[in-house]
Amino acid sequence: MGGTSEGFGPRGDGPSRPGSLAFVRAVCVVGARPNFMKITPVIEALERRSAEVLLVHTGQHYDRSMSTVFFDELGLRAPDRWLDVGSGTHAEQTAGIMTALEPVIDDVRPDVVVVVGDVNSTMAAALVAAKSPARLAHVEAGLRSRDWTMPEEVNRLVTDTVSDDLLAPSQDAVDNLLAEGHAPERIYLVGNVMIDTLLANLERAKKGDVMARLGVAEGSYGLVTMHRPANVDDPDMLALLLKALGEVATRCPLLLPVHPRVAPHMAAAYVPAGVRVIEPLGYLDFLALEAGARLVLTDSGGVQEETTALGVPCLTLRDTTERPVTITEGTNVLVGRDPDRIIAEADRVLRDGVVPRRPALWDGKAGERTADVLVDEGRCRR
Ligand code: UD1
Ligand code: UDP
Repeated sequence: MGGTSEGFGPRGDGPSRPGSLAFVRAVCVVGARPNFMKITPVIEALERRSAEVLLVHTGQHYDRSMSTVFFDELGLRAPDRWLDVGSGTHAEQTAGIMTALEPVIDDVRPDVVVVVGDVNSTMAAALVAAKSPARLAHVEAGLRSRDWTMPEEVNRLVTDTVSDDLLAPSQDAVDNLLAEGHAPERIYLVGNVMIDTLLANLERAKKGDVMARLGVAEGSYGLVTMHRPANVDDPDMLALLLKALGEVATRCPLLLPVHPRVAPHMAAAYVPAGVRVIEPLGYLDFLALEAGARLVLTDSGGVQEETTALGVPCLTLRDTTERPVTITEGTNVLVGRDPDRIIAEADRVLRDGVVPRRPALWDGKAGERTADVLVDEGRCRR
C-alpha cells in the first residue's frame, strides 16, 4: 500500500470537479478492522456526490487477515496514504498516528476529516483534525459504555468533544450527546453505517463455502469472538471464560476465530473440547457464519450490532455496552463474565431463540444520510 496525492480523487468515470457548490474534499481515516466496514458506505456515498476522497490508513491493523482482506472483499479503494504506525502502547500508537497524519492534512487541506468508530486511530486523527482548518465529522458519535476502564470509552469522549459534526447511529447516542451539552444543530441521527455494509453483502456472503470448508451446517454451531483486554489479557479471566464456553459447547459446538491480540494467550491456555479455535476470518466468511449461527458469544462492539441486524441471539461477555439499542431493540443480552450466567443464558436462547427486531434507521441508507450531511456542511465552509 502507500500512495501520494497523485492518487487523490473520485473513483469511476464521474466528473472529478463538478464545479458546483457541492464539491467537497474529504479525508477519511481508518486503521483497525471494524473501521473498514464503517467507512465503505460513507466513501461510496461521498463519491456518488462527486466529493474528492482521500483514504488514509494509519496502519494500526496491518496483517492481511486484519486489513487487506476487507479492502479486497468490500471493494474499498486502496488507501491513498499508508501511515505505517503499527502496534504499540496507547501513547506510542496515538502519538505515531498524530505525527504521521498532521503533514497529510496540512498538504491536502481537506474541507472535512471523517473518522469512524472508537479505536485509537479514530481519536488520534480527531485530535489532529480538530487543530486544523478542516471540519471534523465523527461517524458513530454518542455511544457510551460509561466504563472508563475501556480505552474505547476515552476515545469516544475525546473524539465527540472535538468534533464539529456528530453522526449518531441510534437515538440513545443522540440523547447521550444532548445530555453532555453538545449543540443540537451539530448532531445528526443517520443510522448505522456498519449495517449498510452488512445488508449490501449478506446474500453474497451466504453464497460462500465457509461452512463446507469448516465442516459445519447452518444452525448447528455457535460463534465466539473475544478481544477485549479485560477478557483476554489476564490468563485467569481467559481460563474462566474458556471453561464457561466449554460447558456451552457441550450443548452446541463453538467456533472461535482468534484475533491476533489473543493468539499468544490462547496458545498458553487450556481450550476445552467443543471449542474450535480458528484463524481470524475475512468479512464475508465471518458474516456467513454469523448469519448461520444458533447463537453468538462476543465482546465485540460491531458483532453486537450485526447479530441484532441478522436476528441471531447474542450473549455479550461484558458488564456494560455502549450499544444498548441492541438490547432494547435487538437480540443482545449482557451476560458479563460469570460462568453460571453465561451457561444459563446460553441454555435459554438455545431453547427459546429470540424475536428478531431491528432498530430504526438500520436500513442500509446510513451512508447516504451521512454523505448528505458531510457535503452540506463541507460546502458551507468553502
Ligand atoms: C483495537 C481497538 C479496539 C477494537 C479492535 C478491533 C484500540 C485501543 N483498540 O484493538 O477498540 O475493538 O482493534 O479489532 O484502538 N496485532 C497483530 N496484527 C494486526 C494488528 C494487531 O498481530 O494486524 C496484535 C499486536 O500484537 C498488537 C495487538 O494485536 O499489539 C493489539 O492491537 P491494537 O490495534 O493495539 O488493539 P486491538 O486489540 O486490535
Ligand atoms: N469480523 C471479521 N472477522 C472476524 C471477526 C470479526 O470480519 O474473524 C468483523 C465483524 O463482522 C465486524 C467487525 O469485524 O464487522 C467487528 O470488528 P471487531 O470485533 O474486531 O471490533 P469492534 O467492533 O469490537 O471494535
